[in-house]
Formats: sequence, C-alpha cells, structure tokens
Amino acid sequence: MKTRLLFVLFALFAVGSLAAEPVSPAIPHLEKRGEATQLIVDGKPWLVLGGEISNTASSSLSYMETVWPKMTRLNLNTVLVSVAWAWVEPEEGKYDFALVDGLLAGARKNHQRVVFLWFGSWKNSVSSFAPAWVKADQQRFPRVRIASGKSVEILSPISPATLEADTRAYVKFMEHLRAVDPQRTVLMIQMQNEVGVLGDSRDRGDAANVAFGGSVPAELMGQLTKNKDHLSPALAKLWNAAGSKSAGTWTEVFGETPATDEIFMAWHYARFMGSMTAAGKAVYPLPVFTNTWIVQPEDKGPGDYPTGGPQPLTLDVWKAGAPAIDLNCPDIYLPNFDDHVAAFHRADNPLFVPESRGDAAGVANAFYAIGAHASLGYSPFGIDNTGRLVTLRPAPGTPQLDDLQNLPLAKGYAVLRDLTPLILEHQAKGTIRAAWLNKGKPTQEITLGDYNLLVELRRSSRDQSFMTELGYALIFALGPDEYLVAGTDVQVTFTPRTPGSPIVGIADAETGEYRNGRWMPGRKMSGDDILLNYNLAKQAEANQSGSGLRFGPEAPVLQRVKLYRYR
Ligand code: DGJ
Repeated sequence: MKTRLLFVLFALFAVGSLAAEPVSPAIPHLEKRGEATQLIVDGKPWLVLGGEISNTASSSLSYMETVWPKMTRLNLNTVLVSVAWAWVEPEEGKYDFALVDGLLAGARKNHQRVVFLWFGSWKNSVSSFAPAWVKADQQRFPRVRIASGKSVEILSPISPATLEADTRAYVKFMEHLRAVDPQRTVLMIQMQNEVGVLGDSRDRGDAANVAFGGSVPAELMGQLTKNKDHLSPALAKLWNAAGSKSAGTWTEVFGETPATDEIFMAWHYARFMGSMTAAGKAVYPLPVFTNTWIVQPEDKGPGDYPTGGPQPLTLDVWKAGAPAIDLNCPDIYLPNFDDHVAAFHRADNPLFVPESRGDAAGVANAFYAIGAHASLGYSPFGIDNTGRLVTLRPAPGTPQLDDLQNLPLAKGYAVLRDLTPLILEHQAKGTIRAAWLNKGKPTQEITLGDYNLLVELRRSSRDQSFMTELGYALIFALGPDEYLVAGTDVQVTFTPRTPGSPIVGIADAETGEYRNGRWMPGRKMSGDDILLNYNLAKQAEANQSGSGLRFGPEAPVLQRVKLYRYR
C-alpha cells in the first residue's frame, strides 16, 4: 500500500515536472512552401522585418540598451547583430560568451529576434575582427599575398590552420547558442561578411600558387557539368569560350583572364565557409547565409571589389563548394536594386536582403523584394544610426532622431507587419507581385490573375506630365476580379487577359486595414480618388476606362478593389 502511494506521488511529481518543463519550439529552418522558400519560426512562416546594427554596436551592452527599444519603435521584428571572433575568443582556447548572453537578454526583453553575423576570419574582405593572437601569428595563419609580393591584412582562405581555428570558435559559439536559446531567439546566422580578396584578382601566396597551377577539382567540374544547362550566363560564357573542357587547370578550363582568378578564389572561400557551416550545423542546424559586396560601377576588375565572394558570376561555384550554406545574399546600395535582387534570386538561391538602405527608397526596396522575389525579408544597414533612415549616408554628427514611429521605414514596416499572414500565404501561392518605380523606370507591367496591371508613378489627372519621383506597390490577387494593393505614389490600371468585354471599370474600391488577418474596411474610393485621366475619348480608344487605383505620397495605404468589364 505504502509502495503504491509512493508510486502515485512519484508519478504526480514526474507529471508536474514535465508540465513545468517548457517545450522548445522547433529550430528555425527553411522550408519550401508552394512557390516560395520560407523561414519557419516556432513552426510557422516568418517574414523578417529587419535591420542590421552598425558593425561594433553589439560590442557594448550598455550602448545596446539604447538601441533595442528603438528597434521596437521602428516596428522591426528581427535585428541583425555582429558577433566577432575576437570578442568571444580573445585568448586562444578561452571562450567568453557573456556578451552573446547579454545580447540575447536585450533582444528578448524588447521582443526582438536575432540573426547573428559571425565576423570570423573576414569582414568586408579584411580580417579586422579576427583575434589579435591570430592576426599576430602570420606563420601559423598565413595572409593573402598580392602581386607586389606584399601581404595584406586578409587571412588566406587556403590555410588549413585558419580553417581549423575559425571553425573551432564558431562551433563553440553554435554549441553555446544551442544550450542558451531553447526559446529560439536566434533565427539564422550570417557566415563572415563580404568576403574576397581586395588589392589583386587572387591570392598569390605559396599555397595559392600551387593550387592555382593544379587541376580544377573534380568535384567542382562534376557539379558544373551536372548543372550545365542552368549555370549563370556569365560563367557558362567563360567556360564555353575556353572550349567547354571537363578537366584541366584553372586557366585551361576558364581561360587566361582575371575572371578565372575570381572563380578560383570563389572555390576556396566557398570550401572554407561551407566547411565551417557544416561543422556548425552538426551541433545546431540554424539556416546560414553569406552576404556579398556586389560589383560597383567604378570597379574595373576583381580585386577592386572583393574577388571570390558569391557574385552572380560565381554563384554556381559557391553552390558546388558550399552546399551547407542555404543562401547567398546581396548587400545592395546601388540604385538599380531591382536588377541585383533578380541576379541573386534563383531556384537554388531564395532571396534575403541582409543589407540595403533604410530611408523611403529602402521601403520601396523592402516591398519589392518581398512581393516580386518572395524574399525572406529585408534589413537596412546601420539602423542604430537613425540618420540613415532619412538619407543613405548621413554626414558625421547628424543628430539622432526621436520621432521614430513617423519615419518611412517604421510606417512601411507597420503595413508589412499587418500584412504578414497574407504576404506569406500569397508568396507560397505565387499570387503576390510588386512594383518598384522611379524616374528611370516610371512604369511597370505586371501579370497577375486574369488581368495585366499597369503600375505607374502617380500623375496629375489634369496634367499628365506631372509625375512623382518614387513609387512602390505590393499587389495580391484575392480572387477572380479582386485585388488588394498596398502602395505609395503610384496609380494602377487594369487590362483583361481573358476573352470578353475589353474595358475594365472599378465596381467597388475601398481603403482599409488588415488586423489579425481580417480586413477592416475604411473609406469607399470613387470620384477624384479613382479617376486617373479625364481624356475619356483617348482612353476609350485605348480600351481604358480612365479609372484605376491611386495612391498618394503618404505611408503605404491599402486598397481593395473589385473590377467589372464593359464594351
Ligand atoms: C557593407 C558591409 O557589409 C557593412 O558591414 C558595412 O561595412 C557597410 N558596408 C557600410 O556601408
């Protein structure tokens, strides 16, 4: 009897303690859902409304105390935060993750998720975030040597000792995250930052020269041969021009140009970082991405920009050399954002934008990446410096701003936050599009559902020569003849794609908001709000009604429209 009672008490205690033990959500991971690959967090798709803090912000927890609340006021849900190898292994073999724990505590207190950027061997090409004991031991950790015979402050990726040391620290970091983050505050890892050699088209150290004189590894040749119908056009062109060989030295296979040096470096950086990523995933399998310093207009050749990073030319080399890396992502500060996202978004490389601008043009970028390329999200750089949310590169000393909620980014993110369930659903269904317009590209045609949509910069209905400077829109097909558009400074007209009456009129349009996934209607739109062009004779000639959707300069507004057709 006594034993039974004891057993019952034990069982109750066991159940009680089980109940008290919180169940950890699944580890964040990428999942193909319908037409999109999405980041799954706590078992559900997650849209990163992010921002990357400046490089060394996270080295000071007291500075970070001032940063976290700003992130929340800006309507971010994810902050990209650096962790430097030098900060966590200041002496060889002595790890200190107190800073990481403090960063996680700050994020959690402010309801933010985190993407950690591992600044190990490389940050913007150079090795400034490697520990001093690594930098000082050039014998053990060789540097890149350039054509002049000088070495530069870039650790050579062709060094087993450097790979071993960086991997050891990174694996310790990942073990630590696995232990301290059962609540999954950390969503992804960025491996290094903008890698590649600056100052020459390739490393000319002894080990590099030996490797460059040898054959292209069979593993790389095999992957390129297997994927030869889907290679990046630039890589395929080089390979074909050199005779499409299936084996040979680097110059035999790719030709005697600096681009071959770039391909060679890409292979070695990819092997290095792919190997680190695989070792980290073996202990804690968070998604991992790289970021790229894309070629700038003034760059004459590889080495003016970091040679060997994952560029459109070398993406296939990176895929072959680093299969453990999930995404290779661009840092886009150039004005033709649309071209760069298109170059990085491929079937084997879903899009994420870890760095770009955070001003009004940045909001346009965010809408476009998410709507046109099913991006996992968007993240402007230097977000703790709030001056950057007004202009790309504010002058030093520009005062910090207080009124964060009224900045374009905060307002844009508020709309994206409210639309998140709809965005994720329509990304998977392939029924979302986006427009990204400026003076250089004032119109965009979009095919979605049973209509072609013409999205233009907003004009005056009386004076068609007046046009706004910047416009953007996110467009969802809700059903037959029904669309939802979130836009700023654009106008949208419709043309049918199915047989029947050729002219499209607005049956019903209204503004509104999505709250908790439910549409809350606002104003009815008609009259001045939908009449875009009074020249009805000309409009009728073009099978147009003259009516459509109009979006003003204010923060993105939502309009839901039902169309009808007449002749
Ligand atoms: C791109 C880098 O990836 C960032 O870390 C930072 O250095 C910015 N450039 C500065 O504009």
